Amino acid sequence: MLVSAKEMLTKAKVGHYAVGQFNINNLEWTKAILLTAQELNSPVILGVSEGAGKYMCGYKTIVGMVNGMLESLKITVPVALHLDHGSYEGALACIEAGFSSVMFDGSHYPIEENVAKTKELVALTAQKGISLEAEVGSIGGEEDGVVGAGECADPDECKAIADLGVTMLAAGIGNIHGKYPENWQGLSFDTLDAIQQRTGAMPLVLHGGTGIPADMIRRAIDLGVSKINVNTECQLAFADATRKYIEAGKDLQGKGFDPRKLLAPGTEAIKATVREKMELFGSVNKA
Ligand code: 13P
Repeated sequence: MLVSAKEMLTKAKVGHYAVGQFNINNLEWTKAILLTAQELNSPVILGVSEGAGKYMCGYKTIVGMVNGMLESLKITVPVALHLDHGSYEGALACIEAGFSSVMFDGSHYPIEENVAKTKELVALTAQKGISLEAEVGSIGGEEDGVVGAGECADPDECKAIADLGVTMLAAGIGNIHGKYPENWQGLSFDTLDAIQQRTGAMPLVLHGGTGIPADMIRRAIDLGVSKINVNTECQLAFADATRKYIEAGKDLQGKGFDPRKLLAPGTEAIKATVREKMELFGSVNKA
């Protein structure tokens, strides 16, 4: 059964580790992440962007697929199904469809509007036992056509949103989605420290997990980050393994063209990436 992300993230904050959110794109992705979480006895959050939601034929299809897998793969670790960077309407649709967690990304609105919309969703999600992530300060890079500049959030605005009663808070600290450019300045730990001091026990979320060096990840966890989002790194690992399979001509040998064979190396590569992240984040055996 899907669970809200509240309990797993509260435990992570107290225990000084982070739970990974891994974005899903299809059945292979979902299966790879769930099997790895079960194997490592780790809690996990499956992230779905609105674009990926459309690609996978809508939120109801995803809820059906994930619930089916939890049963048939005998997954017993805590799993949350979470809308990533949702619009207000997207959040409502996911709540309706059976997601156990949603993010409302109001970071591009003026703070008053972000507060007002987040507040409405706090009431609605609380009623249904669903966790809610809010965002202050847009995350840089491009994700599903939404481009942010990688700003640092204002700690007072973070407190204003945290005080509304959201479950977890994403705050820009110089992080960006996708690969980091050569001249990236790194995470702003001063900003993170100020945000954590203002928001206390609130689990903080680090987006743009791809390509952040391990020492920065550890320091961010020390400063209150309890959820780390990873998307691009699984895509790169999948593409690389699939390319190698094709370039080696394996699809031309025997029944190598069978999708169950063709997609297997990429699926294994996602598993290896997820394993590496769970070990780094410290969530192994925390189910
Ligand atoms: P990356 O694609 O950079 O790993 O970022 C993922 C993310 O933050 C999803 O919200």
